[in-house]
Amino acid sequence: MSDTLSRSWRLFRGFLREQSDPDGFYRLLAADSAWQVDQWHRLAGARLLDVGGGPGYFSDAFEGAGATYFALDADAGEMRLHGRQPGPRTVQGSGLGLPFGDATMDIAYSSNVLEHVSQPWQLANEMVRVTRPGGIIFVSYTLWWGPWGGHETSPFHYLGGDRAARRYLRKHGHPPKNHFGQSLFPVTAAAGLNWARGCEGAELVAAFPRYLPSWATPLERVPYLREVLTWNLVLVLRKSDA
Ligand SMILES: C[S@@+](CC[C@H](N)C(=O)[O-])C[C@H]1O[C@@H](n2cnc3c(N)ncnc32)[C@H](O)[C@@H]1O
Repeated sequence: MSDTLSRSWRLFRGFLREQSDPDGFYRLLAADSAWQVDQWHRLAGARLLDVGGGPGYFSDAFEGAGATYFALDADAGEMRLHGRQPGPRTVQGSGLGLPFGDATMDIAYSSNVLEHVSQPWQLANEMVRVTRPGGIIFVSYTLWWGPWGGHETSPFHYLGGDRAARRYLRKHGHPPKNHFGQSLFPVTAAAGLNWARGCEGAELVAAFPRYLPSWATPLERVPYLREVLTWNLVLVLRKSDA
């Protein structure tokens, strides 16, 4: 695999089929994620914690690459989505206070969770805390001002999160799964980069769009434009020596 346009296209096609074939899409995404993380820290032999792991599709991919996979999620229902069962090292709890000791993981990983949390940078700080010196923190989240920022209410989130939710309720007869202000928050690239640059105990080593080809990485240096075009931002930090 490499950061090419054809990879982005494959992911996008999978994403379009997410509702009809969640298994296919999440397996594709998980394999892609394992490949991405492995570029920053070897997965073979690593202890990896997936914060907000949901139904655990990533466990197969990370374990397949040789990692010992730990996961935590706040919601028992999410952990059992699509008929999945939580794996042996999966716990229910909040990422805002991880039930793991300091410096116990080689890799702290989180995919598409920060935008669902009212205090995203507290969760990110917790990921830094549990990572050992020299280990990495790999955080990826959906940007509010991107085309998918409003999740199932997109693109009407551009008119405001509450308004988009009201429109969704009118059209579908039920509220969106992701409640704006309760389980969906407007998280920006600027906020993530500010957090990462000011992070005590870890250094930002990379910031790039998760699904786009590598040539789109310089986008992250352009304020405003990056908020709209990135879709999903990855921040990679390396934990400093104690
Ligand atoms: C969109 S899903 C992402 C699942 C998976 N990481 C992925 O990329 O497919 C967001 C997950 O975050 C979990 N979550 C939300 N708030 C959380 C919190 N405070 N602590 C841990 N998990 C949380 C939800 O239960 C849900 O499973």
